[in-house]
Amino acid sequence: MDRRIKIVAICGSPRKGNTFDILKMIEQSNPEIDFKILMLSEVHLKDCLACYSCINNGEMSCPLNDDRDMIIKEMKDANATIFASPTYSRTISALMKKFVERTSYLAHRPIFFGKYALALTTCAGFGGDLTCTYLKENFTQCGFKFLPSVVIMVATKSQTETDHNRKKAIQAYGKLVRAIQAQEDIKPSFGQLVYFNILKSISELNKLKGWADYEFYKDKNDFYYDIKIPIVKNKLARWIAAREIKKMIANKKG
Ligand SMILES: Cc1cc2nc3c(=O)[nH]c(=O)nc-3n(C[C@H](O)[C@H](O)[C@H](O)COP(=O)(O)O)c2cc1C
Repeated sequence: MDRRIKIVAICGSPRKGNTFDILKMIEQSNPEIDFKILMLSEVHLKDCLACYSCINNGEMSCPLNDDRDMIIKEMKDANATIFASPTYSRTISALMKKFVERTSYLAHRPIFFGKYALALTTCAGFGGDLTCTYLKENFTQCGFKFLPSVVIMVATKSQTETDHNRKKAIQAYGKLVRAIQAQEDIKPSFGQLVYFNILKSISELNKLKGWADYEFYKDKNDFYYDIKIPIVKNKLARWIAAREIKKMIANKKG
């Protein structure tokens, strides 16, 4: 059996430029890892039509026939995913945004628990942190456990600065590999607990229209998978979720 660590990097740049170069450097830093770079510019991914089929009726009902499921399979087969996007206009690239939209059903029905992730960006100087925060927040909702992000400034003043930035990327990658090797149990964060309770409640309120979510949540109790949650933590998460749902309902009426 192949026991090598597998890592997939989803690259949101339209070209094999700075972001790709950093991913290549990371790949070459550890030849033991089964590392794959998926260029979103080279796969077939259509624009989301906003038909809500994936969210309401299940992802299989998406009318777009393209490489979405191939990418998801790569991520499922891997121990970790690196979400790499250049910073364009202070956020992720349009290509990466398309991928986020096409996988938005995963924020409703997350499947990536037990998997690590890293957000990585290259930028000239501003907005890299926003890019990484966006990637982290979005894909945490899909179940990933993120390690500290990597922001690489490409407009450096010296070779020393360039080398320092590259070292930062290799160090963050090393941490990711060690986290996978340690095989620690990844515990749900409090935010994930609250989010679970919000989505479970919504799935019940919306069960006629959104049966895919309803089916997904109906037999789940405290979290997405069986895990003992401390009573007080669980009660607090449920209470906050109930308060958020109340607010949402009030806003809808108003
Ligand atoms: C359309 C566009 C918008 C950009 N916006 C920003 C920005 O807001 N902040 C920044 O620091 N760099 C910005 N840049 C510079 C890129 O982030 C930087 O050159 C990056 O390394 C490009 O990565 P790539 O070669 O993988 O595409 C922008 C570049 C482009 C093409």
